[in-house]
Parts: sequence; C-alpha cells; structure tokens
Amino acid sequence: MSGGAGPVTVRLAGPDDLAAVAVIENLCFGDPWSLSALLSELEPDPMRLPLAAESGGQVVGFLMAWLVADQLHVLNIAADPHWRRRGVGTALLREAARRGRALGLVEATLEVRRGNTGGRAFYQRHGFHETGVRKRYYADNGEDAIILDCDLDALADGGDPAPGATEGL
Ligand SMILES: CC(C)(COP(=O)(O)OP(=O)(O)OC[C@H]1O[C@@H](n2cnc3c(N)ncnc32)[C@H](O)[C@@H]1OP(=O)(O)O)[C@@H](O)C(=O)NCCC(=O)NCCS
Repeated sequence: MSGGAGPVTVRLAGPDDLAAVAVIENLCFGDPWSLSALLSELEPDPMRLPLAAESGGQVVGFLMAWLVADQLHVLNIAADPHWRRRGVGTALLREAARRGRALGLVEATLEVRRGNTGGRAFYQRHGFHETGVRKRYYADNGEDAIILDCDLDALADGGDPAPGATEGL
C-alpha cells in the first residue's frame, strides 16, 4: 500500500497540484475531467474551494467545490484507490464543511451517479439525504444523477475525527 504510516492532512490545493490531482482523477473516474477543467478549479478564485489531502508529502485525495449563495456545491471528491477506507474522503469533506461554515454557508449539495454505490454509501454515512433526481444527467452513459443535500453544521462537526486523519492548512 502506498503511503502507509503518517497522518493525513488537508490543505488548500492550487495549480501546482494539477499533476497529482489528474493522476487520482484518472484512476478514480471512467469519464475523467480534462486537465484544463481540473486546472480551472485549482486557480485562485473566491468562489471556488479546492482542497488536497496529503500524507508524507504525497497527495492522496482531493475535493473541489463551489461556494454559491449559502451552499457548498461539491463538484468532485476522490481518494487514491490505495488510500480508500482510511478517512481521506471524510477529512476532505469535513474540512470543506468547516471552511464553508466559516464563510456563512449553511448547506452542502452535490450530485452522484445512481450506480455509484460506494460514493452513495459514503455520503449516506455523512448524513446526506436525497432531494431529487436529474434524469439521464450524465452524457457518457445516460445515467441518472441523484441530488444529495446535507446540513453544513452537522457535516462540519461530524462526530469522531476520521481515523488517522487531521485537518488543517
Ligand atoms: C467516495 C470516496 C471519496 C470515499 O473516500 P474514502 O477515503 O475511501 O472514504 P472514508 O474512508 O472517509 O469513508 C468513510 C465511511 O464512508 C463509507 N464508505 C466509504 N466508501 C465506501 C464504499 N466503497 N462502500 C461502502 N461504504 C463506504 C463507510 O461508512 C466509511 O467508513 P468505514 O470505512 O469505517 O466503514 C472514494 O471511495 C472515492 O474516491 N471514490 C471514487 C470517486 C467517487 O466516486 N467520488 C464521488 C463522486 S460524487
């Protein structure tokens, strides 16, 4: 298993993280975002929140979100497959929620593929609930998107810390 020991920390991501983020994106998704789409989310922008999870200097996961009115829109979240079920996704989601709450946001929202059972279980574990369906939303295979919402306060506090993970700059 890559990495192994050492805590996971979460920090703001930036353009310098593009290569590492692209590797994880391509490992995690059948329809990965282009480099230019990823770079757009990593450029400094007050409406965007890109986070990187790191262990031992290696990027092991990332999250990209938009800050829209009082909502945190999570666009993309992924953990390196070698680092799954070790709290990376949880650390990213909680840190995004904490930063969003500090900015006055009150709700997190996102879309997930109907067939993404792992992703849906992850969000359910964090208190997201279904609020709608976008029929045939995904162009590559016509899959439905399930819309999930969650109270940002509850997400930010989230009970016990994720195993082995700490959050900070
Ligand atoms: C979704 C994803 C980010 C979760 O990251 P992770 O670091 O493995 O998640 P965590 O370790 O923080 O998981 C926390 C809890 O969520 C639930 N969970 C996470 N992945 C799960 C899975 N594949 N199946 C069932 N439950 C899961 C579990 O309750 C888990 O706690 P446990 O390990 O103690 O049982 C990761 O699986 C991933 O990158 N998937 C591919 C990309 C993707 O689908 N992203 C979402 C698109 S909307």
